[in-house]
Formats: sequence, C-alpha cells, structure tokens
Amino acid sequence: MDRPVIERDPTPREPTPREPTPRELKQSAKRWRDMLASERDAAALYDGLADAESGERADILRELADVERRHAAHWESRLREAGFEVPPPGRAGLRTRLVTGTAQRLSLDAVLPIIERAERTGAGVYDADPDAAPGMADDERGHAVALSALRSGAGLPPRDQSVQDRIARRES
Ligand SMILES: [Fe+2]
Repeated sequence: MDRPVIERDPTPREPTPREPTPRELKQSAKRWRDMLASERDAAALYDGLADAESGERADILRELADVERRHAAHWESRLREAGFEVPPPGRAGLRTRLVTGTAQRLSLDAVLPIIERAERTGAGVYDADPDAAPGMADDERGHAVALSALRSGAGLPPRDQSVQDRIARRES
C-alpha cells in the first residue's frame, strides 16, 4: 500500500521572537539607562562647546546637541514603554564639565582632538543594537565626520577666514 505523501512547506520558518524574561528585561533597562545617561551627557557637552563658540561653528555644535537629545528621548521612551521609571536628568559628568570648561576658558580648538577621538571610538555604538532606532547608528558616525570638518575648517563659511588661516597655520 502506498504511503500518503506528506508535503513539506519548503519555506524555512523564522523563529518567532519570544518575550524577554523579567531578568532579561531588567538587564535591557540597565543598558537603556546607561545609554540615556551617555546621550544626555553628550548633549550637555555639545551645548557647552557651542557656548564657547559663535557663528556657524556654534550652530553645528547646537545641531549635534539636538541629535543627542533625540537619542536620549529614544531611550527614555524605551524605558517608559517597558514600564520602567525614567531617571531625572542629573548634572553633566566630570569629564564633560572639564572639557566644556576648558573650551570656554581657552578655545574649542583646544579640546576638539579629544572629542573627535571619543566620537570616533563611539561611532559604532549602535551598529548592532536591536534596541536603537533606525538612523541612530548613522547619526553617531556622522558626528565623527562633523567634528573633523569643524577641525579642518571644511564646514566654515568663506567669511570666517581668520579661523581657517589659524587652522592652516597650525597644520602646516
Ligand atoms: Fe548619540
């Protein structure tokens, strides 16, 4: 007697994502809180640097601060949606206060290399993060580029010749 042929569905099934366990959720929340703190700190850093500057350089720095605030808002909503409390914004970290204080006392150029290095190191922070919003990884990479443009003077309008001359003199 012929056995009935059982047709197999040839399309491989994606495993359905399961709900995180309470322990996993708690671990995620800790990570989101860390990200939130670091994004808030980055926003404070760029605002502080913008205060030390004027003109287009200040505008660019304020835009970077706005992007970091958007990132912070993302982590705030992740926390809220998962039923966790959003920690109130605290004082900026010591490093941020030192760097912005130095920029305000000396100049933005005095601290740009430090910031640029930190941004290059952190550029891939959201590359493989399933919890980050679309575009966040690109934003972080963009910051490193924006900062090096500030340093090389590439983002400066032609009228700001004095800064460009100073940069050119330093690089020659
Ligand atoms: Fe960010």
